Amino acid sequence: MRPLVVTGTDTGVGKTVFAAGLTAALLATYWKPVQAGLDEATDSETVAALSGRPVLPEAYRLRRPASPHLAAEEMGVRIDLDRLALPQVDGPLVVEGAGGVMVPLTRKAVYLDLFARWQTPVILVARTRLGTINHTALSLMALRNAGCPVAGVAFNGPPEPEVEETIAEMFSVPHLGRLDPLAELTPATLARAFDAIDTGTIQTAIRGAL
Ligand SMILES: Nc1ncnc2c1ncn2[C@@H]1O[C@H](COP(=O)(O)OP(=O)(O)OP(=O)(O)O)[C@@H](O)[C@H]1O
Ligand SMILES: [Mg+2]
Repeated sequence: MRPLVVTGTDTGVGKTVFAAGLTAALLATYWKPVQAGLDEATDSETVAALSGRPVLPEAYRLRRPASPHLAAEEMGVRIDLDRLALPQVDGPLVVEGAGGVMVPLTRKAVYLDLFARWQTPVILVARTRLGTINHTALSLMALRNAGCPVAGVAFNGPPEPEVEETIAEMFSVPHLGRLDPLAELTPATLARAFDAIDTGTIQTAIRGAL
């Protein structure tokens, strides 16, 4: 199985929560290539705690919770895309970006450029709340323009069947399922909520994307 990229329509849409559920469900390894912001729990720490699965070390750990290019500049670091090659692991690998597809890694490159280099399936996480159709469509357009294989959209939040269906149909993208909002996030509650996401559907979508 090719490594899977989890990106999102925005920051804070639930990429890490979804990635943790997916990592656990696929018995995968998780990798966050660039972490910006070290004061709160990092995404790697969150995924390790929620999935109980192996987590690879980040290639760049940047102090400031900001766009990676700014967080890097502040530390006198320049992010080198050549250092962000996909690692080889046994079994599936789930890779999380930061923010959305147009977030800069350097003054010249955005996450989309990295995903396009990798040529590996991308899952777009989208909230179900108002505004999501626009953000999802724009992200899909950017991913497709860059030639990234899009596996599908996974929703996070309360059910919005008309919105979810509109996105899947109008923009011809597989609907990979929806995660309910959880009152308490633990490995057990996440695993139960993730039952609503059919990993068979995801595997089929991945094959369809390649
Ligand atoms: N389904 C959910 N149920 C409960 N809480 C959730 C759910 N999805 C996301 N959250 C919470 O919302 C916040 C943002 O989610 P998350 O960290 O997964 O977003 P992200 O897209 O990975 O953000 P970033 O761009 O910073 O990496 C977190 O506090 C997370 O615990
Ligand atoms: Mg995250």
